[in-house]
Amino acid sequence: MIQSKLPNVGTTIFTTMSQLAAQSGAINLSQGFPDFDGPQALREAVGRHVMAGHNQYAPMTGLPALREQVAAKIARSYGRQVDMDSEVTITPGATEAIFCAVQALVRPGDEVIVLDPCYDSYEPSVELAGGRCVHVPLALPDFSIDWQRLADAVGPRTRLIMLNSPHNPSGALISRAELDQLAALIRGFDIYLIADEVYEHLVYDGVCHASVLAHEELYARAYVVSSFGKTYHVTGWKTGYVVAPPLLSAELRKAHQFVTFCGITPLQWALADYMAAYPEHVDELPAFYQAKRDLFCDRLAESRFTFTRAAGTYFQLADYSAIRPDLDDVAMAEWLTREHGVACIPISVFYQQPPADLRLVRFCFAKREETLRQAADRLYGV
Ligand SMILES: Cc1ncc(COP(=O)(O)O)c(C=O)c1O
Repeated sequence: MIQSKLPNVGTTIFTTMSQLAAQSGAINLSQGFPDFDGPQALREAVGRHVMAGHNQYAPMTGLPALREQVAAKIARSYGRQVDMDSEVTITPGATEAIFCAVQALVRPGDEVIVLDPCYDSYEPSVELAGGRCVHVPLALPDFSIDWQRLADAVGPRTRLIMLNSPHNPSGALISRAELDQLAALIRGFDIYLIADEVYEHLVYDGVCHASVLAHEELYARAYVVSSFGKTYHVTGWKTGYVVAPPLLSAELRKAHQFVTFCGITPLQWALADYMAAYPEHVDELPAFYQAKRDLFCDRLAESRFTFTRAAGTYFQLADYSAIRPDLDDVAMAEWLTREHGVACIPISVFYQQPPADLRLVRFCFAKREETLRQAADRLYGV
């Protein structure tokens, strides 16, 4: 018998709902991945690099050509000049970057503040490092930071705060003014940040993403994480990166070196080529996804679901109080999948202690137009 180090971890809701969607023949708007492919030139580049013999280990920190493109993009998007050698690390997915950043920082007995609802990989990473998550709920209905509760949670054991903006599952954004407020709150404390910005380019209605990379004071103590999977519609490539000041990067690399050592070589070559040839890809993403959001939401607005349009990410929350107030959100997600053929995610699973009257489910709109139309039509009939 082994005593589990992660006794609370079971099958994730994403697996459960995707399986239920398949069994029920439902349209799967549950798990967060596109039902369309990444750019053709990007996919062709992988084949080219595989055939050109780029199939052995990449450098531990990532291919220089890709780190150079990441640094160039950061300069363009956020006005920060980062050093590609000492500050940029390519990782097998944002998840690995987050895991390694946590291992680099968290010691047994340390506390890590997470803002609920939060992404499901944070807590197991902290627990495996011997730390403990302190859950601070975001304020409803807009999922903004509850400053009083956050200030109350900060203490002598606090080592790290996990931020996620644009936010999964709510689609909410952290503003520049809120980053300033956070900087003021932790000034003088030995507290670090992981800024999970995997949806950095999925921000709508003309709003600019307030990246920690553009915040001088916060960046000095931050790991900023992103994902090529989200930005280039290739989640299955599990390729991401983390940007941090040199000393923090050096510590993270000590973990990364022995978790995976490096990311996948031909994928890194292909991404470097594509980013160099099509730097405008990231600028086109907001309009691309906003059109999908609006297609889905315009139809949903005629249904009995109520919602505020997502400010970022490719997730749309919807309140079902007017439809089945008797069901909790897990039961609602199952009912919608089985009876109405649309799979979604209940958001209580992103909480340690979900609010009792939560009646929200999450739909992923990273889908083709016909998928979104069909799903919205079904939801209209609920
Ligand atoms: C908030 C958040 N962070 C991290 C990730 C993981 O990204 P990757 O697939 O690059 O590991 C996801 C993926 O869904 C996410 O939603």
